[in-house]
Amino acid sequence: MTTATSSARSVHTLPFDLDPQTPGIGAFISDLDLRQALPDEVIAALRAALVQWKVLFFRDQHLSEEEHIRFARQFGELEIHPLTPPDQPRPEILRIVHDRDNRGTENFWHSDVTWRPQPSLGSILRAVEIPELGGDTLWADMEAAYAELPDTLKEKLAGLQAEHNFLRAFGHRIPEEQHPEIRERHPPQHHPVVRTHPESGRKSLYVNIAFTDHIVGMDKQESDKLLGFLQDRAGRPEYQVRLKWQPGTIAFWDNRASQHYAVSDYWPQRRVMERVTVAGDRPF
Ligand code: SIN
Repeated sequence: MTTATSSARSVHTLPFDLDPQTPGIGAFISDLDLRQALPDEVIAALRAALVQWKVLFFRDQHLSEEEHIRFARQFGELEIHPLTPPDQPRPEILRIVHDRDNRGTENFWHSDVTWRPQPSLGSILRAVEIPELGGDTLWADMEAAYAELPDTLKEKLAGLQAEHNFLRAFGHRIPEEQHPEIRERHPPQHHPVVRTHPESGRKSLYVNIAFTDHIVGMDKQESDKLLGFLQDRAGRPEYQVRLKWQPGTIAFWDNRASQHYAVSDYWPQRRVMERVTVAGDRPF
């Protein structure tokens, strides 16, 4: 049981310990056993902490796959990633395995599945096997990245939409002849360049280098320049928090207000993660 006292936090009693890692993003939560079904008030407090801190970290939570799925379901419907092998027994789990034969290439900033009409609310990532050194993940606070833009740029961005495309990031993994079918199944989506958080009402920058292709209706050269500038904002250390994983560590991020970056510095070591993703709604 903790009482939040920092000026950055609202002052109320929480049903767990909360330890912020930076002024704006990232907090460790302890004094909870995520294997148990949690009371409604704990889920509500975790949700509020997620919206405020954008990514929550938990140590020593050695969940089974069922427990991982059950924990995630307490926050909403789960979604299935199209790259999950169809014969996988628990399709809700996206297994991310990198080792000597399959080098990690995650080293780019992104929010998940922004190529969906309704990109996810958040993801819950569990460390299954981690390298002795390296393999950290960083998150960036896209609300702070928006808040600190000059007012003239904020005015320019208001009302702009950007196109997000599945094939932009994953096209190289899929044979060219299948691209038309993939494009039909996952047609490019238009989302606001600045989205409003459905729970807090705060605005955040909603373009990412992995999936955002261009700004709708803008000349390509101008769009590339503006997108390049906006996408680079996630790379500023002032907006970031970095996690060193341990076996049993869990990270739960708010995909609506953050981006993340998995550091691919550990090859040829092995790193195995499992991700369960909570469905979201249409950005506005
Ligand atoms: C992800 O991008 O969802 C995975 C991040 C990681 O493996 O650290």
